Amino acid sequence: MTTDTTMTAAVYRRFGAPEEVHIEQRAIPAPRAGEVLIRVHASTVSVADHRARARDIPAGLGMLAAVGLGVFRPSRPVLGMDAAGVIEAVGSGVTAFTPGDRVIAAMGAAFGGHAEYVCIAADGAITRAPTSLSLEEAAALVFGGITAQAFFSKVAIGPGTTVLVNGGSGAVGTAAIQLATHLGAVVTAVTSSGNAPLVTSLGADRVIDYTRQDVTAGDETYDVIVDCVGNATFDRVEESINPGGALLLVISDLRSMLRSRRQGRRSGKLVIWDVDKPGAEELAHLVSLADSGRYQPVIDRSYDLADIVDAHRYVDTGRKRGNVVLRIP
Ligand SMILES: NC(=O)c1ccc[n+]([C@@H]2O[C@H](COP(=O)([O-])OP(=O)(O)OC[C@H]3O[C@@H](n4cnc5c(N)ncnc54)[C@H](OP(=O)(O)O)[C@@H]3O)[C@@H](O)[C@H]2O)c1
Repeated sequence: MTTDTTMTAAVYRRFGAPEEVHIEQRAIPAPRAGEVLIRVHASTVSVADHRARARDIPAGLGMLAAVGLGVFRPSRPVLGMDAAGVIEAVGSGVTAFTPGDRVIAAMGAAFGGHAEYVCIAADGAITRAPTSLSLEEAAALVFGGITAQAFFSKVAIGPGTTVLVNGGSGAVGTAAIQLATHLGAVVTAVTSSGNAPLVTSLGADRVIDYTRQDVTAGDETYDVIVDCVGNATFDRVEESINPGGALLLVISDLRSMLRSRRQGRRSGKLVIWDVDKPGAEELAHLVSLADSGRYQPVIDRSYDLADIVDAHRYVDTGRKRGNVVLRIP
């Protein structure tokens, strides 16, 4: 039971199956100088939580991931890369937020969102939550939104730019379709037929059902290809990228990373896998789009914190549409 000094959190002590995650009582963290303490109302269970928990890391990146996630056991036992909640307390020197402010935050690789409270630097990736959304909806803006935005910031997208979003129905894909549409791009989404209505409703002009058609099979070419699946390697899609165009590898293995610079130089096409860490400005941009009705969080399912294992099981299917929200009552 939660007390004045302890909180309920979803904790994993070993890497492995969803059942490794369980509910525990932990000490409520105290905000240090420059930090805020958020009372978390909602977070999401993302594919990043799946990857960390199951140590499902792209080929060649296991050692690097172990530095952040832990070698023998998890170094960050509470997962959750994002949070939507209310400021509970602020550390010394914090003037940008006061207790009671509704906020959204991206903790990123620091994790910690699957708990009643989390601390984050006040000058980090935190901003006021959209006024037009519930905190549950607001939580679903963060993970895919900041990722798609970070990759799009590396290329020029404007009216008429042709963009192919591979994996258009996931958290990142649904965000990418909306952001590209908002910028005036002509968007083609790659998904299975059951998700065609979803991606079309988000702005996709054309849908390719990957179960029936290979994206590289036709003559169609694109200015920008965004790979949110991990199967659109440069070797595979090079001919489908217009001269001077770009491949945005939201997910890639070490081999693709190492080869990207040379491939880019040889072909005159950009191959991007590395993006800047998002901050408050990027989150605030998503909030303004959401408040003006130009960006909507896509929520597949919501689970209570107590049902965290079921939430992980569902995310593990790889079939979620948009986001899985975790309610923290
Ligand atoms: N670089 C970064 O900073 C960063 C940040 C966030 C995420 N990521 C990575 O980006 C990837 C996508 O993340 P996400 O959150 O969007 O994943 P997600 O929400 O779990 O993606 C699930 C979706 O993928 C679709 N999908 C599965 N196989 C597909 C295929 N062969 N072709 C087209 N669609 C397919 C599924 O649709 P169907 O059911 O129709 O197949 C499902 O809707 C992950 O690998 C993640 O690790 C990287």
